[in-house]
Amino acid sequence: MIIVKLGGSVFSDKTGKPENFDEETVRRIAKEIAEFYPGKDFIIVHGGGSFGHPEAKRYRIREGLGNCPEIKRIGFSETHRAMLRANDMIVKIFLDEGLPAFSVSTSSIFLTRNGDVVHGDVEVIKKLIGNRFIPILFGDVSVDLAKGIDILSGDQIITYLAKMLKPKKVIFLMDVDGIYDGRPGQGNLMQNLSKDELDSLLTRLHCTAAGTDVTGGICNKLHEAAKIAEHSEVWFVNGKVPGRLGGAIMGDSLGTRIVG
Ligand code: IPE
Repeated sequence: MIIVKLGGSVFSDKTGKPENFDEETVRRIAKEIAEFYPGKDFIIVHGGGSFGHPEAKRYRIREGLGNCPEIKRIGFSETHRAMLRANDMIVKIFLDEGLPAFSVSTSSIFLTRNGDVVHGDVEVIKKLIGNRFIPILFGDVSVDLAKGIDILSGDQIITYLAKMLKPKKVIFLMDVDGIYDGRPGQGNLMQNLSKDELDSLLTRLHCTAAGTDVTGGICNKLHEAAKIAEHSEVWFVNGKVPGRLGGAIMGDSLGTRIVG
């Protein structure tokens, strides 16, 4: 089994207009996956990009239900709807390419406490895989046991799925070539990154800045990657460049591979 994270910055421009969508890139990614399906099983988890993040920010979903619960409840549902719009376009493209993609709403099967997953029902996902479907989950809002509501990033979902389902590989698709030894997109590309190097990189990057993301950007990704690497091979590759995903599936691609 291979889990692919379709980062929000791959299918949309996070700094652009709300809900912009790069259909061509998603279609090409679907075609690359189609070359390996049904030989291999896939789960896709996509991010929020220009869909979920602006809404989540506008309604301050990460702060919980707080003292304006009436507005927050509307925002919770609106943020989810924005994610469903992105999800619907992605699922449609996969179906067009002959892939049996099936949408699974993260917020219906996961619960969080202060943003950490405390429950995830993976039975449906296991059965879908058993029946040769390609489940497509997404970063989403979550019902939170402490704050009432929160946001669950695609990266956290993958950490949980990796722990439960032990995939052979997890591939993060980004809009840069991989992990750099400086700020994202700068410095030298680190093609092989050990767990120790990953820890020191997190310290060096002063992982606090989140940019336009409500879920912590590259830092959250690296934190989650460190956990996933305990179960699976982890790759970071550029989803905007044809062939990189296919290369990572085969085990030979320009990008960053986390070595255990
Ligand atoms: C964010 O998911 C989901 C919402 C904002 C609702 P991610 O954190 O996985 O999204 P990207 O990949 O960074 O855009």
